[in-house]
Amino acid sequence: MKQVKNDEAFVAFERVQKSYDGEVLVVKDLNLTIPKGEFLTLLGPSGSGKTTCLMMLAGFETATHGDIRLDGVSVNNIPPHKRGIGMVFQNYALFPHMTVGENLSFPLEVRKMGKAERETKVKRALDMVQMGDFAARRPAQMSGGQQQRVALARALVFEPELVLMDEPLGALDKQLRETLQFEITNLAHELGITVVYVTHDQTEALTMSDRVAVFDDGRIQQLAPPDELYEKPINSFVAQFIGENNTLTGVVQEIGADRCTVRLDSGDIIDAMPVNVNAVGDRTKVSIRPERVEIDKTRLQPGAHTLKAEVLEFIYMGDIFRTRLRVAGTDEFVIKTRNAPDQVRLTPGTQIEIGWLAQDCRALDA
Ligand SMILES: Nc1ncnc2c1ncn2[C@@H]1O[C@H](COP(=O)(O)OP(=O)(O)O)[C@@H](O)[C@H]1O
Ligand SMILES: [Mg+2]
Repeated sequence: MKQVKNDEAFVAFERVQKSYDGEVLVVKDLNLTIPKGEFLTLLGPSGSGKTTCLMMLAGFETATHGDIRLDGVSVNNIPPHKRGIGMVFQNYALFPHMTVGENLSFPLEVRKMGKAERETKVKRALDMVQMGDFAARRPAQMSGGQQQRVALARALVFEPELVLMDEPLGALDKQLRETLQFEITNLAHELGITVVYVTHDQTEALTMSDRVAVFDDGRIQQLAPPDELYEKPINSFVAQFIGENNTLTGVVQEIGADRCTVRLDSGDIIDAMPVNVNAVGDRTKVSIRPERVEIDKTRLQPGAHTLKAEVLEFIYMGDIFRTRLRVAGTDEFVIKTRNAPDQVRLTPGTQIEIGWLAQDCRALDA
């Protein structure tokens, strides 16, 4: 992962709110600073306010309250075309009547650039996205992936320091999406540009970003690097939204600084990290990742609690085995084990015992 060069805020949202109808706030109280060169993703379910945030930064929507700054300057009264921001959206929005070359040349003409310089820049931008041979084509004569590469080149051609992308790969098939994810992050890092990227696809967010802001209901639920989001979710929404997660519900029975004991609704007792619970008697959802569950008791701490489980389903997935269990009253408990030569393949109907390290199990809000 790239090191961000300085911590100064290049983009800053301060106490930003947005309402379209004067009543409902679709963005509630956004505070977010993005350093230069960072690849930051807004991730969240549909309707959570991601596009609205991007549109306010681009200047196509105005904030109802608060301040947005770009390189230290408040942009509230600067029109979109004067903000110097490159943009890519899901539905390409290339001009259909123009060739690829003309599409790229257009933002440069708007900036009153001379012909020779325009040609150099267009060529360079197309080469960057491996579309150098396509300058004479029209959008209708290209595949979706090719059009999206051109859209990317068009966003980069005037060498903006900031590029906004709203679900730019949403319309493409999985393999092409993965290729372009890789190309976009490489290009962004090579050029040193700052990217604010929007997606509802958590895998995309985790693989591409330096940091991810998880959105729900107009608020940032957690802002962190990908590994921290996955391994240290701070609430149940994030634990559930990022990656695969097992949830068991219960009540906090004892609580200390870094351990709590939870009595599950099934009556079983387990140990967990108290993350988003405060006191004895609090209801909690405990969260445990499928790959952190141990079926080999020798790998647990002495005295660790274990739970009885019945194997319901065993799925061979090549690199891993995914096993569904009945545990503490739920039939949806999933564990993942590596396909190693000594790893047992669990047969449905088998009774086993499972456990985990308390630090891998997080007691979150109910
Ligand atoms: N132009 C608009 N006028 C009125 N309501 C809008 C408009 N754009 C978005 N909304 C509403 O604002 C909320 C957030 O939308 P949006 O920012 O598009 O979310 P996301 O991009 O996360 O799906 C939604 O409830 C949506 O219906
Ligand atoms: Mg959107």
